[in-house]
Amino acid sequence: MRKPIIAGNWKMHKTRDEALQFIYNVNLKVPNKEYVESVVCAQAPVLRDLVKRQGENLRIGAQTMHEQTEGAFTGEVSAALLEDLNVDYVIIGHSERREYYNETDEGVNKKIHQAFRYDLVPIACVGESLEIREKGETDAFVSNQVKAALKGLTDDQVKNLVIAYEPIWAIGTGKTATPEEANNAIKSIRSVITEMYDAGVSDETRILYGGSVKPANIDDLLAQSDIDGALVGGASLNAQDFLTLVNSAQAKVDQ
Ligand code: PGA
Repeated sequence: MRKPIIAGNWKMHKTRDEALQFIYNVNLKVPNKEYVESVVCAQAPVLRDLVKRQGENLRIGAQTMHEQTEGAFTGEVSAALLEDLNVDYVIIGHSERREYYNETDEGVNKKIHQAFRYDLVPIACVGESLEIREKGETDAFVSNQVKAALKGLTDDQVKNLVIAYEPIWAIGTGKTATPEEANNAIKSIRSVITEMYDAGVSDETRILYGGSVKPANIDDLLAQSDIDGALVGGASLNAQDFLTLVNSAQAKVDQ
């Protein structure tokens, strides 16, 4: 069984005090990391403080990074620095980065390679717009995003990669894909990996669903065959909701 991951994506929320308060509220209560990976992805300036206080079982992630090692890229964050801060995960190619900061499939691929060079686990995001879904082109679109993201990765890297399937129309809108829709899209992503690598590899890659995940719908999503966890925006801002989500993942493991 693939180990579930619940990753909170705080986006541009929380001051340092608010972030620390959240960590104090959850760090001793999240499930054992042997069974569930509980991750919080925060704004870069607080990562150091959060890592120091993450405790045994919580892990900290960044929300983006640059593909180059260093240089004249004002405002950017390097993978080398994230590794130095003992950050474990980094979200790559979130749809908001693609939309507002012109991140491309090619750039996403470069960032994934760079994250692996610095021992960071990339959480690579893919997902279609409403327009693409309504045209019936979801699978073709997402499969192209996945192929581009994975270009040149080794078997071991793909096994360690985390993919987040996040339909753009479901992010922050309160509209969740049905568990079946989400599972079908994720199965189709897994079959793309099987085409590119062998089944042994795609069986190990964790693929999360993201888009309006909350305590009320997490159990139905996790009950699906191919959904290995969730990337959670809004609901991850509240410590109690975050704990409910990670405990649901633990309950799935216990079944
Ligand atoms: P949401 O965001 O849970 O608020 O829909 C998900 C995401 O953007 O990762």
